[in-house]
Amino acid sequence: MLALRPARPDEAPALTELCLRSKAVWGYDAAFMQACRRELTMTPAAIMSSRVQVAEVDGRLAGVAEVKSEGDVAQLERLFVEPGMLRSGTGRQLLDWAKATARAAGATTMLIEADPDAAPFYRRMGAVDDGVVPSGSIPGRFIPRLNLSL
Ligand SMILES: CC(C)(COP(=O)(O)OP(=O)(O)OC[C@H]1O[C@@H](n2cnc3c(N)ncnc32)[C@H](O)[C@@H]1OP(=O)(O)O)[C@@H](O)C(=O)NCCC(=O)NCCS
Repeated sequence: MLALRPARPDEAPALTELCLRSKAVWGYDAAFMQACRRELTMTPAAIMSSRVQVAEVDGRLAGVAEVKSEGDVAQLERLFVEPGMLRSGTGRQLLDWAKATARAAGATTMLIEADPDAAPFYRRMGAVDDGVVPSGSIPGRFIPRLNLSL
């Protein structure tokens, strides 16, 4: 049974590793993954100061999402599902949580800076393309930005 709950600060190292394992499913090489490590690292302080939710199955972490909101625009900061749990509804449930959280904070739109391979998932969830933005990890790389109406 999939259950959602807020992340705990002491889970930061395990969640960092989950994000890295999840990102790697798209087949990136070791140098690329090393370059992503700083951006994907979660700290106890960040978990305490942000809205971070985890999914778990039988007490094991299955995914994580983080959302930030300012005024009427929210940003999906991260959404990562454990590789063994892909395509089992975890991403959808975490995205539903992020949407509800952003809506409750007054947002009407959520922006998503997506991995190119994850963009079809967001389109499936109703997001529309909204240009490209520079990657936060790889100089010179541009990634899709999508816009999800709340
Ligand atoms: C993108 C990601 C979060 C999707 O999570 P998931 O748990 O596999 O997705 P779900 O099982 O909830 O899928 C929901 C729907 O989207 C579809 N879907 C999921 N991934 C898809 C993909 N890569 N391409 C197209 N459709 C996809 C599913 O088939 C399902 O469709 P349905 O409406 O017919 O049921 C997951 O693939 C992931 O963590 N990827 C690696 C890390 C990453 O890139 N994260 C995003 C960073 S921006």
